[in-house]
Amino acid sequence: MTSPPDRPFAATAGHDPEASEEDRMRPGEVAVPLPEGFDAGLFYIGRVRTPWHHRGDCPRNARQSDAVCTIELDPRYAQGLTGVETCTHLLVLYWMHQARRDLVVQAPRHYGEPRGTFALRSPVRPNPIAASVARLVAVEGTRLTVIGLDCLDGTPLLDLKPYFASTDAVADAVVGWHAARKS
Ligand SMILES: C[S@@+](CC[C@H](N)C(=O)[O-])C[C@H]1O[C@@H](n2cnc3c(N)ncnc32)[C@H](O)[C@@H]1O
Repeated sequence: MTSPPDRPFAATAGHDPEASEEDRMRPGEVAVPLPEGFDAGLFYIGRVRTPWHHRGDCPRNARQSDAVCTIELDPRYAQGLTGVETCTHLLVLYWMHQARRDLVVQAPRHYGEPRGTFALRSPVRPNPIAASVARLVAVEGTRLTVIGLDCLDGTPLLDLKPYFASTDAVADAVVGWHAARKS
């Protein structure tokens, strides 16, 4: 079996005393063994350039920062940008390449309490795909200037899609545990 290129942590690495604070397991967290092989492949289509070089310095989500970031698309996909300049916002999908992938229950530092991975927006998940709606400021060739990202400089880009407020925005959507926590 070939070693997965972006899987820096084995299922037990959270107990490694050498692990960084972000990767150390917290009380209540649960790791599972990952499958032997992958079910699909993907292409990195570019890189995201941001001001952040350490995970702890990144905004916790895309709305927490108005920092200007750059999306560098691989020039082979340049024609795929036709029409993108007419969009005010893009759905940006990116690959959290430094995240461990084996936790099914996790306790993010800022929430404390353990919750299921699929009830969280944490980068730690079997497929560490992140999604943010970013404001498109400019398109110059294959460089897109955007506001509204929360990832490390150099994070691989997976996809760009137009954000349709008419179909993507759900004004009355609720994340119950989060709403309860805030009240
Ligand atoms: C909570 S996630 C949210 C990501 C995305 N907005 C989403 O909702 O899917 C954002 C956090 O992921 C971490 N992070 C950023 N870039 C990363 C990377 N390349 N690899 C692993 N973790 C990363 C940082 O701690 C950052 O604050």
